[in-house]
Formats: sequence, C-alpha cells, structure tokens
Amino acid sequence: MSALKTQVGIIGAGPAGLLLGHLLHVNGIDSVIVENRSRDYVIDRVRAGVLEQGTVDLLVAMGVGAGLQRRGLRHDGLYISFQGRRHRIDLADLTGGKAITVYGQNEVVRDLIEARTATARPLYFEAACVTVGALDSPNPVIRFRHGDADHEIQCDFIAGCDGFHGICRPSVPAGVLSTYERNYPFGWLGILAEAEPSSDELVYSCHERGFALFSMRSPTVTRLYFQVPPEEPIDNWSDEAIWDEMLERMTTRDGWQPHVGRIIQKGVTPMRSFVAAPMRHGRLFLAGDASHIVPPTGAKGLNLAASDVLVLARAMKAFYGRGRTDWLDEYSDVCVRRVWKAQRFSWWMTATLHRFPDETPFDRQRRIADLDYLTSSRAAMTSLAEQYVGLPAEVSFESAGL
Ligand code: APR
Ligand code: PHB
Repeated sequence: MSALKTQVGIIGAGPAGLLLGHLLHVNGIDSVIVENRSRDYVIDRVRAGVLEQGTVDLLVAMGVGAGLQRRGLRHDGLYISFQGRRHRIDLADLTGGKAITVYGQNEVVRDLIEARTATARPLYFEAACVTVGALDSPNPVIRFRHGDADHEIQCDFIAGCDGFHGICRPSVPAGVLSTYERNYPFGWLGILAEAEPSSDELVYSCHERGFALFSMRSPTVTRLYFQVPPEEPIDNWSDEAIWDEMLERMTTRDGWQPHVGRIIQKGVTPMRSFVAAPMRHGRLFLAGDASHIVPPTGAKGLNLAASDVLVLARAMKAFYGRGRTDWLDEYSDVCVRRVWKAQRFSWWMTATLHRFPDETPFDRQRRIADLDYLTSSRAAMTSLAEQYVGLPAEVSFESAGL
C-alpha cells in the first residue's frame, strides 16, 4: 500500500476536477486528481459545447485559453425558430458586448489535461475501487487501486468532482443532503455530422413534432439534436430516418435547413434537473455534476461546474494563505444561489421549447405565445440574453488568485 499526502484530493477529471486542479496549481496549492476512466475515454466522450462569456474569460485568465481562442467559434447571437420562422436574438447587443463560444467540452478537457500534465502534478487515470472516508475529520482520505498497487491519500480537503454517477455524493451520510429532482418525459437524440454548418449561430426550434436544435463543433462539423422519448433505443433510428426527422423539424419557410452529411456519432441522452445541497459535508466539497444536473437546453452544465470551482478555489486560497475559513463555510450558499438560477432558466427553456406528451391545445398555444412574446419584446430578449451568456460571477477572478 502506498501512502501519499496532498492538500486537496480531487475525485474526477471532468471539467470541474481539472479546472479546480489548475486553479489550485496557479495558487501553489497541491492536489492529486483521481479518475476512474482512461485518458482517451475522458477526452473522446461527446458532451456539450457552449461556453458562457465568464467561462471563456476564466479559461483565458487561467492561461489555458489558447486552443479556445484559436478554434472556438464566438457567437454574438442565436435563433429561436417556431411556426416556420427564425427569430434572431442579438446576445452581444443586448448584454453590452457579451457572447458565447462554441468549443466542445472534450476540447476543454483535452486542453486541461495537457495543462495538468505540464505541471507534473499527479493525475491518475483508470483508478479502480475509489472510495473516500473520514470526511468529518481534519484528514479525510481517498483510497483506490491503480495497476497492481493500492493507494491511500491523506488530504486536507476532498473535492467531489466525480459527476452525477460518482461516489462522493453517496458517501455523505443519509439525512445531510436535501435533494430536488425533476425528470422530463423526453430525451435528446444527438448526432455529429460531417457537414458544414448552414448557419453561423445556434437555432433552437420549437416544432409541432417536438424540439430540435442546430449547433456545430467546427467549420466542417454540424451538431444536431431532436427530442425523443426518454428511453428511446438509438437503434430505432436509421441515419435516413434521423435526417428526415431533423429536416422536418428544422426547415423554415424561407428554406433554411441544416446541411446533410455523414453521421459520425449518435446517441440518446436523458434529461433531468437535480440539485443536492448543501454542497459540503465536513471536509468534502461537491462541485459540478456531482451536486447538480441541468437539462441541456440552457447549455449551463459545464458553465456551472466552472463557476463552482472558481468559488471553491477562492475559499481554498484564503484558507492556505490567510487561515480564513469563512469562505469555505460560505461555499455552498454562494454556489447554490447560482445553481438555482441556472436550474430555473434551463427548466424554462426546456418547458417552453419542448412538446410534452400530455400537452393540451391550451399548453401549446401558451408556449407559442411565450415564444412570440420572447422574440418581439426587447425586455424579454434581454432577460434571455443575460442568462444565456451567463449571469455575473459571484466572486472576482482576483480573489481566486488570477
Ligand atoms: N472515481 C473517480 N472518478 C470518477 C468516479 C469515481 N468513482 N465516478 C465518476 N468519475 C469521473 C468521470 O469518469 C468523469 O470523468 O468523474 C468525472 C466527472 O466529470 P463530468 O461528468 O464531466 O462532470 P463535471 O466535471 O462536473 O462537469 C460538468 O459535464 O456532464 C457534463 O454536461 C455536463 O458540462 C457538464 C459537465
Ligand atoms: C451543443 O452544441 O452540444 C449544445 C448547444 C446548445 C445547447 C446544448 C448543447 O443548449
């Protein structure tokens, strides 16, 4: 058994864990990252791709924004499409110049793994049997198996950045966390296609057959989704059937539609809203998907993970630098307020744009009126825009050592 010591033990090498590791590194704080999957799996996993303005600024301030600045696609607006018409919402004009950047989560993760490797700080992939313990004590521990060796890491703190299906949240004793959950009666069937994007900006489509979304990953790759039943087997959908449905739901009266190309990846993702709070128990701090899930309609998942770890890094910097514990104590409250605002926004985008199986004609007309109001009122568009580009950060970059 090898015994190690570190300041912060981080479980999970997704965006939350890797960003936290780098923020701590910038502040001269030691960490060990323990991930149960392989490096390739973590990088290749196809996930979301929209970065809020604040997330872009954070990555750049941390010195890990080079790839993003080179290959990210800045979007100053987006489209909402319903009843056959696309309506543009000018995000930059409505928010004093803010925008979103389309850059795949897997690119973000690849850049952060490279940055981690360059620091020579430990990052274990393919760690088996990961457990956390002594969470109430001053020295919580992480145990795992790597290759043929058993490891135990004694930490000052553990950051649970291990996603929705991780082990950290379930390690909190029963009764400590309150959970809030909503499952949706649909999921998203998503594809990557070798096709030049036919629009420079995202198109969120509300169609009577259900929701569809046009997005992209690069100048040659289009990313598309449409709403399906939650447990829909992907094998039910041939590539031809997928294209028929995409085009049916997305084509507008002026003839706009996505370009068709070879499908290079496809899958179905369920949708849920979930919050577990507080985001702390003893010396375990939860961050990102480990403590909250949003439906992808608002594109908030990765961005919430980034804002959590910014708040956590600030607290840890103040603890190690000045012995302050109040920011550690406030961590959960500060994050949870933002989490609920993002939950509300994601729920509203989802409920307004999707067709619920039990929807009545009244519900449908109300949804159309909601979209009509949204796309004709500057006040309503401003509300969407400021939430879509991201509400202001709770804490300054300077306070987190940037
Ligand atoms: N031990 C170690 N690592 C684990 C364990 C475990 N028992 N369980 C899960 N992990 C790893 C996962 O393999 C994954 O790499 O934790 C990581 C969690 O990463 P994400 O699921 O990407 O979550 P997070 O970093 O919070 O990022 C949030 O991810 O789910 C997307 O769209 C969501 O963009 C959002 C972002
Ligand atoms: C994506 O490009 O994957 C994407 C874009 C916008 C969303 C969700 C996903 O709301």
